[in-house]
Amino acid sequence: MINAARELVRRSQSIVSFSGAGLSAESGVPTFRDRSEPNSLWAKFDPMALASPQGFAADPKMVIEWYAWRRTRLATLQPNAAHRALASRRDMLHITQNVDDLLERAGTDAKSIVHLHGTITEDRCHGSCGHVEAIDLTNPPLCRTCRVCAAPMRPNVVWFGEMLPRGAWDRAERACEECDLLLVIGTSAEVHPAAGLIGLAKSRGAKIVVVNPDASGASHLADIELSGKAGEVLPRILPT
Ligand code: OAD
Repeated sequence: MINAARELVRRSQSIVSFSGAGLSAESGVPTFRDRSEPNSLWAKFDPMALASPQGFAADPKMVIEWYAWRRTRLATLQPNAAHRALASRRDMLHITQNVDDLLERAGTDAKSIVHLHGTITEDRCHGSCGHVEAIDLTNPPLCRTCRVCAAPMRPNVVWFGEMLPRGAWDRAERACEECDLLLVIGTSAEVHPAAGLIGLAKSRGAKIVVVNPDASGASHLADIELSGKAGEVLPRILPT
């Protein structure tokens, strides 16, 4: 299977990666709904209380403090072998649902990364003025207001019930329509619209290689399913 996947990589002209929390799991970033992992975030926390506009309206302090915890933790973590394998491929586009910056820290050109669900390295205005600010992960802000329009500031991520950033979505959709190989890495493929990109790529003729230790919502679309951890599998199928 590994050899077959490596051969597909070698033959393909346009390769796109589509990743989820499993890509960063070996760095110590918790996943969300990993069935075999008791420390998954949504096993311990209520997603609607912590990652929705309603939750933010109900208790902004709790939401911002939860993100501050995630941010200070991320600051202490390092990219893993899977991030480095992806970063070494200058010819690929990387679509990720991850809000961390580990692909960037592994040396991936930021222009080759599409953060479909935003990034926790920035805050943005929760009002409509569009103000965005980079934040310091080691010293994350607590509750504060926008210096342009005084609405509350919040992490620049997509919450449940919110639209994906238009530009990121359009770019991801186009890439999945045009690629000939989609590497689906470490995602349960249960959250839409992001997960729909896998079926889109498949319907346009792309081969699908799935890398995940467990079965996922992408399994039935896989031409090749590599059962294993991203940090062990990717360096073997993505020779530099
Ligand atoms: P999930 O937590 O839903 O899924 C993580 C997947 O990674 C699971 O299928 C695991 O089996 C797999 N996995 C675990 N360790 C792995 C490893 N070392 N190598 C490869 N795979 C591994 O995370 P996502 O699919 O990213 O959205 O979740 C999608 C979205 O749901 C997130 O972006 C987030 C969440 O709610 C928002 O917050 C909007």
